[in-house]
Amino acid sequence: MRSRIAVLASGGGSNLQALLDYFDELGERRGGDVVVVASDRPDAGALERAARRDVPAIVLASERRPAGVALDAVVTEYDVDLIVLAGYLRLIPSRVVARHAGRIVNIHPALLPAFGGKGMYGQRVHRAVLEAGVTITGVTAHFVDEVYDRGRIIAQWPVPVFANDDAGTLASRVLRVEHLVYPRVVDAVAGGRTTVDNCGTSSSGFADTRPSFTLLPHEDSRLAENIELALGC
Ligand code: GRF
Repeated sequence: MRSRIAVLASGGGSNLQALLDYFDELGERRGGDVVVVASDRPDAGALERAARRDVPAIVLASERRPAGVALDAVVTEYDVDLIVLAGYLRLIPSRVVARHAGRIVNIHPALLPAFGGKGMYGQRVHRAVLEAGVTITGVTAHFVDEVYDRGRIIAQWPVPVFANDDAGTLASRVLRVEHLVYPRVVDAVAGGRTTVDNCGTSSSGFADTRPSFTLLPHEDSRLAENIELALGC
């Protein structure tokens, strides 16, 4: 059975779009359906993208907007079994994390645990990467727990930092890789192929910090081809 997915997004929603397009490409083989999109910001591009696809688009309640719908209510009403964060800037309340343990995923535009945590979002991440002078950054898809960017890592992919990069050029190179990696990760989790228990747990039963579902170039030639193209810009 396919997972019923809620996508939460605060911004433009290009990762949401990449997911919808990938599910279209997979057709009947897709592991889930996006049944609702919700945002803390009424002007989020993600809500427009959802509406364009006839997916219900909902504005969430916040301190500033108490009239919005509570996240719990959305999850219950749409019978959601997987929550996908795609550029969602608010912390997920711990009661929601507890209720959906192992069923919430996020994408972060750097190689966690580096350049993550509270306040590390958007261009701030890329500026910090440039300031640190590292030559490789990347993307990380991970399960979500009650601490920002700390949950178990599902997949990572490296992206080079070039000498003439600014935060904008780096962000767009990383984002193109996010669009390749995240839909595949979401599909794997939605379809039950990757779970918080089989991801990073060794056969001895001891937790192993290495993920079992890391997408490396030599393991998925099609993705590697696309990554080559994405990096060639
Ligand atoms: C992405 O870089 C994502 O990694 C980060 O926020 C950005 C969202 O972009 N968490 P979009 O709204 O999906 O275009």
